[in-house]
Amino acid sequence: MQQMVRNVRIIGTGSYAPETVYTNEYIETIAPTDAEWVLENLGIRERHIAGPDQPTSDLAAKAGLKAIENAGLTPDDIDLIIVATSTPDRLAPSTAAIVQDKIQAYNSVAFDLAAVCSGFLFSMSTAAQYIATGIYNHALVIGADTFSKIIDWNRRDCVFFGDGAGAAVLTHSDSDKGFLAFRLYTDGRGKWNFTIPGGGSEFPMSHENVDAGHRYFQMVGKAVYETGVQVLPKAINQVLADTGISIDQVDYLIPHQPSIRILQDTAKIIGLPFEKVMTNMDRYANTSGGTIPILLDEVNKAGRLTPGKLILFAAVGSGWTYGASLIRWS
Ligand SMILES: CC(C)(COP(=O)(O)OP(=O)(O)OC[C@H]1O[C@@H](n2cnc3c(N)ncnc32)[C@H](O)[C@@H]1OP(=O)(O)O)[C@@H](O)C(=O)NCCC(=O)NCCS
Repeated sequence: MQQMVRNVRIIGTGSYAPETVYTNEYIETIAPTDAEWVLENLGIRERHIAGPDQPTSDLAAKAGLKAIENAGLTPDDIDLIIVATSTPDRLAPSTAAIVQDKIQAYNSVAFDLAAVCSGFLFSMSTAAQYIATGIYNHALVIGADTFSKIIDWNRRDCVFFGDGAGAAVLTHSDSDKGFLAFRLYTDGRGKWNFTIPGGGSEFPMSHENVDAGHRYFQMVGKAVYETGVQVLPKAINQVLADTGISIDQVDYLIPHQPSIRILQDTAKIIGLPFEKVMTNMDRYANTSGGTIPILLDEVNKAGRLTPGKLILFAAVGSGWTYGASLIRWS
């Protein structure tokens, strides 16, 4: 079989967040936390919260349709859907299958990808391989999560997360623009530093497991911080070395949004002025799989992604999973 390798670019973005907003001040009235501390240390003011009738697929479908429209396509044009989520609607079927039905993109193959906060980056890389090899032409990549469903509002770490979804449409490109590199990593030795234990085969749904709190996420905050500031610079520097591009040439970093301190320290280590680091965690908190595509959509809609701009993506998540990517916008 002839091997086809084509350049891959992003031609549409979209995002959606539920209407209900919880401010730090509101959470202070229901949880043992401090609004000022959260803003100062995490960079978060407020976050969106899905309603009881809003599973992850609802957010994902809305973001996906907006990205398809922004790309000038219809759902019929999409031949691959990947949904990055760690809060799927159900264990089966995949959230991607539910999204495919909701947006009626029946010409597509659809599957979920689990890499938690790195999920969108891993999914974008996976979709890009299918397009580069000529297997598929139009991929809809969605990052969507509703962490509010697995938050214990009696704990102070309830402040970290919000709900939201973002999406991008990828296609092939005849120009020299598009993705220049991807580097993805997994280190399973970090597996318990961020985990959602309940509902799977280890702690199946039972009264006992619910009473033990297994349906909530568990996080070792210090380990997330220490790992984040080590692996984000590692992945970014590797992508720059792979492409021979220097950090001075980079126009924007569109990173996952774990905490403002992790991003500030990462920027210092890689030598990127913080003005070039895009953030929106003040309004969304950490939407896990949703962070990068929601931010990408905001930067895109603000008209900042003109042709030729060099954009870095980087993420770290549970697993550990982490990685970076570089794209020349077209
Ligand atoms: C979570 C994090 C802020 C904690 O920092 P730390 O210096 O290890 O802090 P500690 O947990 O020891 O807490 C120190 C003080 O900060 C304050 N504090 C910590 N978490 C708080 C919260 N959620 N709300 C209010 N105050 C908080 C308290 O005053 C605490 O003192 P106490 O333990 O005596 O009450 C830091 O480790 C971090 O940012 N980690 C990254 C986590 C992350 O990004 N997660 C999302 C991606 S998975």
